[in-house]
Amino acid sequence: MSPALPHRVIFDTDPGVDDAMALYFALAHPDIQVLGITTTFGNVTVQQGAANALYLCALAGRQIPVTQGVARPWVKPGEAPPAYIHGADGLGNLPERMAVKEQLDPRSSAQFIVDMARANPGQITLVAVGPLGNLSLALRLEPELPRLLKQVILMGGTVLEPGNVSPVAEANIWNDPHAADQVFTAGWPLTMVGLDVTHRLVLPVTLFERIAQHHRHRATDTLHHAVAFYANFYGSRFEHVAAVHGCFGHDVLAFIYLVAPHLFQTKSGQIRVATDGVAQGQTILKRQAGIEYPQAGWEAALPSSTACMGVDAEACSALFESTMMRPWLSA
Ligand code: RIB
Ligand code: CA
Repeated sequence: MSPALPHRVIFDTDPGVDDAMALYFALAHPDIQVLGITTTFGNVTVQQGAANALYLCALAGRQIPVTQGVARPWVKPGEAPPAYIHGADGLGNLPERMAVKEQLDPRSSAQFIVDMARANPGQITLVAVGPLGNLSLALRLEPELPRLLKQVILMGGTVLEPGNVSPVAEANIWNDPHAADQVFTAGWPLTMVGLDVTHRLVLPVTLFERIAQHHRHRATDTLHHAVAFYANFYGSRFEHVAAVHGCFGHDVLAFIYLVAPHLFQTKSGQIRVATDGVAQGQTILKRQAGIEYPQAGWEAALPSSTACMGVDAEACSALFESTMMRPWLSA
């Protein structure tokens, strides 16, 4: 059943191939209205990420404000982006790009989030699928932000599934663990869509080929190209993904949770992030309710979050395909 009003969303992203998938799913879905795109470093530099967001919108014929955000982690040193996963340009090394006339919104990503939240109190969902520095900075600019946003849904972290950048850490959280810990303890309705569920959603390249053939449009051709590159990385790491020549659909699951939360099993509890040492970037969910631990950092007053622990991957895949096949692109 569709909501009476569309979900009004700010999309915080480091585009990135699966970020591009997520953006196009959001643009194609009738119940999602993307009010703005805020960008961060991660899969690419923040400059490249902002350029990619503008480019993806231009390809799709959509005019959406895009801002450039934080360029590095809060505390630890930044690192070179993983060109071997997303390509040096973040979109699978596109052979060419059309010229884009749209310009960035001059505000920082954090300022944009704060301005939009103040202007639309309680109405905006923040869907964050990259390192969390923009949200962390926005919290410093506006400490009331947790009450001004409707909810935060983030792709990042893991509870039981092994990490993807260390045995325990997922990339978005590991890229800025201090910002992530601040976001998990800020006190807003927050749902973590982590590797526990994103490693269940394997999308074959043939699906993107079908989507591209259906639309015959430069936006879906570009997505198909990018996914084919990205699938080579995942195929080199996971046998079952190589077997279908596919990739994980990480970021798109944050939007699927927004529109179809019934497809997920969740667990509530306090979540903290290890900021240093060998466990850096680990997201730790307090799984036993009603226990008081003697260690600092787990006080009862600490806000609770929701972690996605299971998913109907087949239904998500079907929803992704049917949404992407809708007539969402202009000629
Ligand atoms: O670990 C997966 C996440 O890291 C996704 O958001 C992907 O885009 C990368 O940023
Ligand atoms: Ca991402």
